[in-house]
Parts: sequence; C-alpha cells; structure tokens
Amino acid sequence: MLSTRGQKYREIGYQHGLLDEYNEETNPNGIVDLSSAENFLIHGEVIQFINSHKLDASCCGYGEGYTGTLRLRKAMALHMNEYCNPFEPLTAEHITFAAGVTDLNEVCALLTCDADCGDAILLGKPNYGSFARDMVSRGHISQVFADFGGADQFSSDCVPYYLKAYDAAKEEGINIKALVICNPHNPLGQCYSREALIELMKFCQSKQIHLISDEIYALSTYQRTDRPSEKYVSVFAIDSRQFVDPNLIHVLYGLSKDYGAAGLRLGCLITRNAEFSDAARSLCRFSSPSQISMSLAAALLEDRIFLKSLLESSHSALYKSRKVAEVALEQVGIKYHREGNAGLFLWLDLRPYLPTTVTNGDEWAAEKLLWNRFENIGVQVSLGKRYFAPNPGHFRMVFSNHESVVLEGIRRIKTVCNRSKNKSDWPCQSLS
Ligand SMILES: Cc1ncc(COP(=O)(O)O)c(C=O)c1O
Repeated sequence: MLSTRGQKYREIGYQHGLLDEYNEETNPNGIVDLSSAENFLIHGEVIQFINSHKLDASCCGYGEGYTGTLRLRKAMALHMNEYCNPFEPLTAEHITFAAGVTDLNEVCALLTCDADCGDAILLGKPNYGSFARDMVSRGHISQVFADFGGADQFSSDCVPYYLKAYDAAKEEGINIKALVICNPHNPLGQCYSREALIELMKFCQSKQIHLISDEIYALSTYQRTDRPSEKYVSVFAIDSRQFVDPNLIHVLYGLSKDYGAAGLRLGCLITRNAEFSDAARSLCRFSSPSQISMSLAAALLEDRIFLKSLLESSHSALYKSRKVAEVALEQVGIKYHREGNAGLFLWLDLRPYLPTTVTNGDEWAAEKLLWNRFENIGVQVSLGKRYFAPNPGHFRMVFSNHESVVLEGIRRIKTVCNRSKNKSDWPCQSLS
C-alpha cells in the first residue's frame, strides 16, 4: 500500500531501464534518441581521459566533502575565473557541489519559496521543461511564466513581460520569490545580452527577489562562421553591485553538458551569499556526489591543457553537427529557430504538420498525437508543451550526436510529418 503521496509519485513515474538504442550497423531498427541533452560528440575523448586517471584510496571513504571536496571546489573556482570572467574572483568557498543541477534546482526552489505561503518562481516561455519537475515534484513550489509575445526575450525588452507576469501573480495573491533564467538558453540556444542581464538584475532588486541563472551550457557556445555569433556573458561577469544586492545572485553549473560527463552526476551552486550556501549544504546531504566522480572531475578541471583542447574540439564538433542538422532539416522543409549558437539542440517548428482534423481542432492534442507518432516510429524528441512553449507545434531536437543518428532521426521525423497530416490511420511501426 502506498501513501497518498506515494501514489502521486507512482503516477508521475520516471524513466527506468534499458533503451533499445539505434545503431546504424548493429541495431538499425532501434530507437533514435534526440531528446537527451548530452554532448555525445566528446564522449570518446572524455572516457579516454577518465581511463587514464588513477583513483586513490580516498575514493573508498565518505571523504571530506559531502558537498564538494576542497580540491574540486578550488579547481572549479579557478576554472570559472578563467572562462567566465567574474568581476571579482570566485573562491572555493562560493561553491557547493551536489549530484547534479537537477538536485540544485530543487534546492534553490526550496530555499527561496515557502509553498504553503503561496510563493512562486518566475520563468520565461519556453523554458527547460524539467525545471517544473525539479521544483514541483517534492517542493510543490508554484511557477509563473512570462510570455514574451513576439519580443526578443534575450534583450532588455524582456523586462516589461516579466513585470506583467509578476504583477498578475501578485493580484492573485502569489508571491514571486525568484526569477530563474537559463543562459545559454534551453531550448532556444541563445545567450542573454549584457544589457538584458543588467535590466533583470535591476528588476530583481526592485522586487527583492533572487536571480538564479542556470549556466549549465556556458561553454557549449560555438562560433558560427556564416553569421555573427552571440557571446555568453555570465551574471558573475557583470559588476552587479550597482544594480542588485550580490546576495540575490546565484549561478548553477555542472559537468553534464560542457564536459560530456552527465554520468559523473555533478552540479554546483555558486553564490556569494554565505547564508544561502549554508542552507544549500544542509539540503545537499540527500544528494552528495560520489568521491569517485569528484576525484575524476577535479583531475579534469586541473588538467588545463586537456580541458582547453576538449572544449575546442567540443565547439567545432557542435558547430559541425548543428550544420549537418540544419542542412538536413532544410532539405526536407522543416523550420526551426535559427538564432543562437549555443547548447545542444534545435527548436523545431512543426506547426504545419499538426494533425488537427484528427483532434477536432485541438492544437495541443495534435502536438501530443504527433509526438506519439514519433515515439511509435522510433524517434524521441521533446514535446513543446513540456517546455512551456507559448504555442503548440514545437519540439526540441538534440543535434549533438553522431551524424548517422542525427540524420536517421530527421528522416524518421520527416516520415511521420509527411504521413500524419490529418490522418487517423496510425500508429505506424514501420521505419521505411
Ligand atoms: C538547463 C538545464 N539545467 C539542468 C539540467 C540537469 O543537469 P544535471 O545533469 O546536472 O542534473 C539540464 C539537463 O538537461 C538542463 O538542460
């Protein structure tokens, strides 16, 4: 017998077990997973590094660091100081590690909001879909979304829309306690301009709310050679003291994306707010990272020559793979969000293919139906609705995979799109 709460968690569920993964040669009928945001392109280099690293006996114990060994926190601080240009150097003391940013999203929600007092987190649309799960599943923290209409949400034009959402929530008795942004953005792959970040800081100061910036894709920003590229600016790179109380600014970062090491399960909270760090550390006892992971990550961050070459090869592989995906999508006439030069994904616009006659004109139901058909044909992409898309018909597709996988995925997407428009004779299992 499960408790009421237990029953709810059972209904939510979670991915469990083996994926019948596509392989061009050994499993051509397997599932093409274009939903998991990982940089598969650098796994080879990362595993070679890991295999060359010798672990010592300290990895067998609980060790000194439930929330990040000093060695790892020092290495991360030096790394951030080199790559993210903080206006004042970061130190190990500003950093707290847990077993992934997923956990720290929940921690930040718990530390900023009281669910039973009607507190909420403010986000933009679309946004990383799992923020919802991370913040709501256990913390039951509400979320409020700003819809930007046609405005550029990465420029300072975004602020009036956040303000509107804030005011509307206030009228309903909802107290917004934090603004969460994702920079570079998941799923749009764009970076916030410095001006936008400054205006957001001023907004947070005026409302006395926290600004939590998830920068997990910070160094998955690549230069395009065919048009000007956006630059990633960390909130820490701005001398924010004239705009906002530094205690309100927090950054989330991790090993899962930029270093192709999601399997290490390592994320960190970086903040100059000592109280916030103390409270986070107390919660992180439920999600301590493994000593093995921390030892490997410290070695990776300390090896500056390897790290530099890993990031360079990541950037050129990401750009190449994005181009492969763009060309393939254009060849089959599928539109996507063209802006941006960061992250591991493209935001597809499949509105022309929504089978709305089958769903009596219900466009969200048609989006779900199209997604089911993708699943049935063996290609996984992320549903726009789960990413809080402002309108139906968008899907997030990960391109940071090997060319054969990306091309097979796009082929299957197109097969479904060609056949599904307004037809009810599905599901279709055929891959041909
Ligand atoms: C914006 C963002 N934050 C956090 C995560 C999860 O990170 P982690 O693997 O460190 O839990 C993801 C993974 O997709 C993400 O896209």
